[in-house]
Amino acid sequence: MKPKELRPGVYWVGAIDWDRRLFDSLIPLPDGTSYNSYLIRGSQKTVLIDAVDPSMQDISINCLTDFGITHIDYVVANHAEQDHSGTLPRILEIFPETRVICTPRCKGLLIDLLMIPEEKFATVAEGDTLSLGDKTLEFIYTPWVHWPETMSTYLLEEKILFSCDFFGSHLATTSLYVTDKGQAYDAAKRYYAEIMMPYRTTIAKNLKKLDNYAIDIIATSHGPVYDEPEFIMKAYQTWVFDQPTNTVVIPFTSMHNSTRKMVEYLVAALDERGVAVQQFDLEVTDLGKLAVALVEAATVVVGTPTVLAGPHPNVVSAVFLANALRPKLRFASIIGSYGWGGRTVEQLTAMMHNLKVDILEPVLSKGFPKEPDFKALDTLAATISEKHRENDFVWRFSRGNEKQG
Ligand code: FEO
Repeated sequence: MKPKELRPGVYWVGAIDWDRRLFDSLIPLPDGTSYNSYLIRGSQKTVLIDAVDPSMQDISINCLTDFGITHIDYVVANHAEQDHSGTLPRILEIFPETRVICTPRCKGLLIDLLMIPEEKFATVAEGDTLSLGDKTLEFIYTPWVHWPETMSTYLLEEKILFSCDFFGSHLATTSLYVTDKGQAYDAAKRYYAEIMMPYRTTIAKNLKKLDNYAIDIIATSHGPVYDEPEFIMKAYQTWVFDQPTNTVVIPFTSMHNSTRKMVEYLVAALDERGVAVQQFDLEVTDLGKLAVALVEAATVVVGTPTVLAGPHPNVVSAVFLANALRPKLRFASIIGSYGWGGRTVEQLTAMMHNLKVDILEPVLSKGFPKEPDFKALDTLAATISEKHRENDFVWRFSRGNEKQG
C-alpha cells in the first residue's frame, strides 16, 4: 500500500495482514492484524519507527522504495519482538547507513534474536531526545507492555505517541484512524486481555507516566491509529484500575452432561440474584473471548468432570491460561461431577496461585446432580451475590458507559 500521511512529514508505511488467524501459535486473530511502521521526514534526518513482520517484508520495503526513500538515518525499534523487528536485517542491508535506536535491553534481544551486528546500534536512555531538524523525538521507557525492553517514542512538535504494542489491537483495516469505536474497543480489549493483562501493575505505572505528555495521536504498531487518544486511554484506565464488575465467568467442560446441568443451574441461580454471567463451553470457545470476559469479572467458577482422577484437560488448559493472565478476579470456585473420587479441587486450586482469589465452597456431585447438589449450587450463587454486594461490584456496560445494577 501507499504511505498514508498522519501529519506533514509523518507517514504510515506499514502492512495489513488480513488473513493471519493465529499469533504466537496460541492467540486467535478473528479480524487479522496490521504491522504499523511509520516514517518521519525531518528537515535533517529521516527516521523509521518500527518495522514489520517478516512475512510482510516485501510489502514494507516496496512501500518505502516506491515512496522514493533512498536514505534512512535511524530505525527506532520500540520493541524487539519479531512482528516489528523481523524486517530489520533486510532494512539494514538496503540502507546500510541506518542505525537502530533502542533501549540497551532491546539491543541485547535484537542481537540474540536477529544477529544484528553490535555496531549498528545506538541506545537511548529514558527521556533522551533526538533532533531530526524541525522535529524532535523523545524516548519514553514503557517496559512490560508486554516485554521488558519496550519503549514508546514521542514526537514533540506533533504530540504523537508511537506506542508499539501498548494500546494496540489486532484489527486489519484500510482505515488509518479508528472509524468504528465499538469495533476498535472490542479489538483493543481482546488485545489487552490476551497480551497486556498479566502486566497490569507495570502498565498502571506506564499510564501514569503518560499523564506528563500532551498527546493528540496514539500511533500503535497494530490496528488503527487513535486520533482521539482519550478514548483508548480511558478504556485502559477502566481495565487496569477499576473494580471488577458484578460478573461471574464460568468456563466448563462436560462429558456426559452432569457438569453441564450444574453449570446451567448455577447460571440461572446467579441470574435470579442479579449477577451477570458469561458461560463458556471450552469445547467450542474462542480463548480470546474467554480472556476478554476475565478482564472485568469478579468471580470465576470452573466446571469440570473428574477424569483420570483430576480435572478434565480442557479445564486444566483454561485454568492455566487464566492463572497466567492474572485478571483482577476476587473469588473462585469449582463445580462438577465425579464417579468414584479424585483430586480435582486440590489440583485446580493449586493451579490458581497467581490469582488473588478467595476460594468459595466447591460443589461436586457424585454422578448426575441431585437435590442436595442443586441446593449447594443455590448456596454458592447466594454467597457470590452477597460477596459482590459487600464489595460494591456493579455492572458496567462495555465501551465506557456505566450503569448500576
Ligand atoms: Fe506486536 Fe509484542 O509484538
